[in-house]
Amino acid sequence: MVNAPTVICVGMAGSGKTTFMQRLNSHLHSKKKPPYVINLDPAVSKVPFGCNIDIRDSVKYKKVMEEYNLGPNGAIVTSLNLFATKIDQVINLVEKRADNFSHCIIDTPGQIECFIWSASGAIITEAFASTFPTIIAYIIDTPRSSSPTTFISNMLYACSILYKTKLPMIVVFNKTDVEKADFAKEWMQDFEKFQESLRTDPNMNGEFSNGSGYMSSLVNSMSLMLEEFYSTLDVVACSAYTGEGFDDFLNAIDKKTEEYNEVY
Ligand code: GTP
Repeated sequence: MVNAPTVICVGMAGSGKTTFMQRLNSHLHSKKKPPYVINLDPAVSKVPFGCNIDIRDSVKYKKVMEEYNLGPNGAIVTSLNLFATKIDQVINLVEKRADNFSHCIIDTPGQIECFIWSASGAIITEAFASTFPTIIAYIIDTPRSSSPTTFISNMLYACSILYKTKLPMIVVFNKTDVEKADFAKEWMQDFEKFQESLRTDPNMNGEFSNGSGYMSSLVNSMSLMLEEFYSTLDVVACSAYTGEGFDDFLNAIDKKTEEYNEVY
């Protein structure tokens, strides 16, 4: 196993993956060795950072759409399938360069399910994970997760990705220049505080207010599952705009890499 960690950035559309990658790239340039950078989003028109490997160099998304008569998501999945057929060559290439970089960082398509729930996404992820300590960075749009209902939806999504990939995960609360992530950390540490916020959340239409009924019992059951999930996670708050929190992110990567080398 090569020692340099691979960081796969995933997150809901608009969570800030590409901006996060851009900041991580420049942060690594200034603090450590430059990273090895891979773009796996075939549909992106511009990538605001230099890439060592770019899926768009070998797969033309628009041609795939026309040739196979596909819609936008089908074309992303097919482009990833085509790329996955060459994954051995990609891994060899990255492995050969491993002495020259401290981290390999990977940007993924905005349509998260095209990567995480596709066969090719699994093939690509597993190929990296069998060669490098591989960590999932799950990017969350903090201001858009400040209501308890959107927060829990996001956490359940993160949990499903953990089960699907079975890889160590760092949850990254991005955009802290707009809203701090203290509320999220508090909700993850103290489920009673979370339930209290849920009780007063206008999105719940009072369904949770008397502490009985379907939503209450669902939330109580989920609390046990999520407590277990939270215990496996590292959580970092950052802003891809200002660079705040990126040292913490690199520390979390070091910690997860150590754990990875013990377990895998
Ligand atoms: P898709 O790949 O299209 O799903 O988007 P993405 O997840 O790669 O997000 P992207 O980096 O394109 O950012 C989405 C929007 O959030 C853009 O308008 C960014 O400028 C903005 N954004 C990203 N990071 C930050 C941040 O740290 N702070 C603020 N205020 N805005 C941010």
